[in-house]
Amino acid sequence: MPGLQIDHVDISDLPMANPDLETDNGDGFPPEVESFRDRVLAADCFLFASPEYNYSVTGSLKNALDWASRGSVKCWADKAAAIVCAGGDFGGGRGSLHLRQIGIYLDIHFIDKPELHVRAFDDPPKFDADGNLTDAKTRERLKKVLLSLQAFALRLQRNE
Ligand SMILES: Cc1cc2nc3c(=O)[nH]c(=O)nc-3n(C[C@H](O)[C@H](O)[C@H](O)COP(=O)(O)O)c2cc1C
Repeated sequence: MPGLQIDHVDISDLPMANPDLETDNGDGFPPEVESFRDRVLAADCFLFASPEYNYSVTGSLKNALDWASRGSVKCWADKAAAIVCAGGDFGGGRGSLHLRQIGIYLDIHFIDKPELHVRAFDDPPKFDADGNLTDAKTRERLKKVLLSLQAFALRLQRNE
């Protein structure tokens, strides 16, 4: 999409968030955490794409959110974000609400609309066997999410 570059950030190698692993008066972190925090800090905005676990965010996403909330540099703060999710009957919508709640204290500014919660087990399926989103209407909705996120990120950067 023009003007939009999406970098996938792998959070699978992060240790469990634990202040005992912090050094330098709370501003030093394990190497995997340092590089994750650098990528969060460098991002213009965030697209959270995560499954819902037991009506909430996954433990691994919460862990990543917690790591980048530590220290004197607030990596998440004052940036735009959007959520996309695929799940059961509610398409992961309940987990998204929890994510919005977590974002309050981190000063993450989520776009309100549009949201994209995809019912992953519908027939006909919206994804192919490789997990690619193939349903044309849902792809169009995803495009609207990305355009809204881009517009909101630019507004925040202009301080409007
Ligand atoms: C521990 C656990 C809890 C889950 N809880 C929910 C849930 O609350 N709502 C939901 O829609 N799906 C839930 N799921 C299903 C996930 O959404 C699903 O595993 C995820 O979309 C990944 O899909 P895949 O296994 O096809 O890659 C859960 C899965 C796991 C492993």
